[in-house]
Amino acid sequence: MKLKTLTIKIQKKLAWVTINRPKKLNALNSQTLTELHHALVALEEENKVRVVVLKGAGDTAFVAGADIRELADLTPTAGAALAQQGNQKVFDFIEHYNKPVIAAVNGYALGGGLELAMACHLRVFANTAKVGMPETSLGLIPGYGGTQRLPQLVGRGRAMELLLTGDMIDAQRAYEIGLANMICPPAALKSKVEDLAAAIVKNAPQAQQQLLAAVCAGFDPQTDGYAAESESFGACFGTDNFVQGTQAFLHKRKPKF
Ligand code: COA
Repeated sequence: MKLKTLTIKIQKKLAWVTINRPKKLNALNSQTLTELHHALVALEEENKVRVVVLKGAGDTAFVAGADIRELADLTPTAGAALAQQGNQKVFDFIEHYNKPVIAAVNGYALGGGLELAMACHLRVFANTAKVGMPETSLGLIPGYGGTQRLPQLVGRGRAMELLLTGDMIDAQRAYEIGLANMICPPAALKSKVEDLAAAIVKNAPQAQQQLLAAVCAGFDPQTDGYAAESESFGACFGTDNFVQGTQAFLHKRKPKF
């Protein structure tokens, strides 16, 4: 698929996926969501890629939300279908991805933009970033998992405050409430993400795949997270990574994953 609204750059074991509609502050239209899905599917199968990073083009925005122009004419049925498809193809897809996904939040992350960052496994914020959930100011509510993932990340009370007021908070506040894993000056965002990715890729990818599945299982109301963890724990014993990791320890050398 020819990408019009995304760029992808693979550097060492990291794939940088940049949402590239800077004139519209990288707002998510249906084209971007389709392209994101295709890119994520391709990168999931790319063995040399160990971590995927999402960022926005330019200095102003990560993603300023769903494309409001596209939303403006939707019927209730079409609105529900849009949310369902977007969740399946992008937001839930990222949450259940088989390798870690990091959001590099380089500016505004609003509405669907913050939902995209929240679907990722980790979030690194530039200290200039501003985030919020302004949907009710448009007569809407979040449709890409925001009512669920925000309370999971920051607690119900703080989530209610952000959702009901629609007010933006700065990066420092996002860090204080657990929405950002770490913050840094904008010029250091790339290296901060690379350092985080390096700390991840030194460990076993097959174990991390099981780990991501086990953590996700605990947030799925249909699944017993503890049972899923036992199963994932067992699955690790059959992997090359387990042999590599344990033998390296026993022979007092570093594992090579
Ligand atoms: N959907 C569609 N277009 C958007 C957009 C969105 N979510 N967010 C920004 N844009 C567009 C603007 O319409 C504008 O396009 P134009 O130049 O063709 O008029 C362009 O991006 C720049 O935005 P602008 O509003 O002029 O920039 P600003 O610096 O004055 O304000 C924001 C920045 C982020 C505060 C403001 O753009 C905004 O509030 N965006 C909507 C955020 C939102 O409600 N998101 C949730 C959607 S569910």
